[in-house]
Amino acid sequence: MCGIVGYIGNKEALPFLINGLKKLEYRGYDSAGFCIQHDGKLSVVKRKGKVKELENASKSLKITGHMGIAHTRWATHGAPNEANAHPHLDCKGAIAIVHNGIIENYGALKEMLKKEGHRFFSETDTEVLAHLIEKFKGKNLESAVAMALKLVEGTFGLLVIDKTSQEIIAAKKGSPLLLGIGSQEIIIASDASAIAGHTKKVVYLNDSEMAIISSNNYVVKNVNGKVVEKKIHDMEMTVQQIEKRGFKHFMAKEIFEQPLAIENTLRGRIGDGRIKLSIDVDVKKVKRIIITACGTSWHSALIGKYLIEKIIGIQVEVDYASEFRYRNPIIKKGDLVVAISQSGETADTLAALKEAKQKGAKTLGVVNVVGSTVAREVDFGIYLHAGPEIGVASTKAFTCQVTALLLFALYLQQQKGVLDKKILEELKKIPAKIEEILKESKNIRILAQKFKASKNFLYLGRGLNFPVALEGALKLKEISYIHAEGYPAAEMKHGPIALIDEHMPVVFIAPKDDTYQKIISNMQEIKARGGTVIAIINENEPYIAALTNHVIKVPKTLDILSPLLNVIPLQLLAYHIADLKGLNVDKPRNLAKSVTVE
Ligand code: F6R
Repeated sequence: MCGIVGYIGNKEALPFLINGLKKLEYRGYDSAGFCIQHDGKLSVVKRKGKVKELENASKSLKITGHMGIAHTRWATHGAPNEANAHPHLDCKGAIAIVHNGIIENYGALKEMLKKEGHRFFSETDTEVLAHLIEKFKGKNLESAVAMALKLVEGTFGLLVIDKTSQEIIAAKKGSPLLLGIGSQEIIIASDASAIAGHTKKVVYLNDSEMAIISSNNYVVKNVNGKVVEKKIHDMEMTVQQIEKRGFKHFMAKEIFEQPLAIENTLRGRIGDGRIKLSIDVDVKKVKRIIITACGTSWHSALIGKYLIEKIIGIQVEVDYASEFRYRNPIIKKGDLVVAISQSGETADTLAALKEAKQKGAKTLGVVNVVGSTVAREVDFGIYLHAGPEIGVASTKAFTCQVTALLLFALYLQQQKGVLDKKILEELKKIPAKIEEILKESKNIRILAQKFKASKNFLYLGRGLNFPVALEGALKLKEISYIHAEGYPAAEMKHGPIALIDEHMPVVFIAPKDDTYQKIISNMQEIKARGGTVIAIINENEPYIAALTNHVIKVPKTLDILSPLLNVIPLQLLAYHIADLKGLNVDKPRNLAKSVTVE
């Protein structure tokens, strides 16, 4: 969840570190710091708050040096303050470390180190690593880091420097790290966005690998100290993709990018009326599909269940990754486990994937970030190609995940010889239909103005649009801090209806599909109890006006594709409410973009 960047090369390190941290800030943003080595000294600067504070502090200090490490933090151990911000140092201030992940046995290690006379300055688990490395610092930094890591239980992506060595040591286990290979310089980062614009050549570290990096060379070793040959990959990400391009927030940009993002998910995969995916899944061998994910990705998994069961008739189970991994799941021959993750680094999803692999399941990833850990761990993958998603609240990844799941369902249909070309043809029209809905943004902002002071919201939908209700509620609560719940509309009468009064706005997702009449009855129940109804509809029946306070009309499409349209007004409503409340839309409190801790 934190962001890490390191630089070693023939230029000044500080601008690289600050720019890298700005790119990574979406991953964690309660404090930041850097350490630069120069003239046999380490200069450390840390600040609570945003990277901007750190940048301002560094301006007057005139720190020079050609190698350094930096970090933006999302607190796990200890409050977000300067003492707990990274980098952390050993007792003598001779070793500096930045770390992403969690050292699970840090309590025991800290006790041991204290008894040996080490002095601690923070409440973090990371500081333990600095002292452990100090404990083993004999001849060189590389062996000290390797020895220290042997004692560590937990996860880490880390960078270490000391006062004198002309190298950065990087190590990874359960937390991403990649090297950007430039000419006479190497940038190391937890996320490609800190490397984009500097070089396209990247090397991904795998778990239990360690890299010894100098300005024009790097050596990667495995846990036994053996040199590992690494492939250099071409990075897809460009600088333009990670800029706001005139939008006030990344979230707004990403909402408006959805037509293009979906086109990119479809590109090259639906030509000449056939589905082309680079996966090798045999529909005859798949008896059951288990989809595992977290948060918004879990909502797209629920839609995946509805649509795969509906159009292929293969049984699908959906599990929160965090639950799947701990309940000793039953995996049988013929099970395919699908992991959905925008970042490809979510700790719970990765652990669920490992559990599934250990039990012998075939695995498929639906992932956005190219080269991410989920993408590398699965047997086959479908990349979203949605481009970087920077806003913490997931938007374009969601619609692209649903699109990718549809492609997968159609791919299975095609193998059975029953490809439904109507779905394929309509899928191509979805980007233009989303453009239509985006034109409603101004009107949705007017609606948002009316509801920004609400304390609670309910979102109701049925069938494929029940997960859309969940997603609408999640978007609202995470960025506007308004309490919101999503329910299958029919569940209202089993309890939540007790909450309805004139202060309760209820958002209905009510396209004209086979659940329409039922949802109209549910609307009547809410109206009769004084609730305020906002309805997302695709047909304006004469009686709708009497049942609703506000309607947002979306274009018609096939029932099976309707979540792709219905979610857009909900994203916009959440966005405008949060923005009108003056909140930090892209970086909501307590959240981080990729949740790499349990
Ligand atoms: C909500 C949101 C989170 C993520 C969840 C999984 O807007 O972004 O709920 O969906 O943390 O993240 P990924 O998809 O990266 O595994």
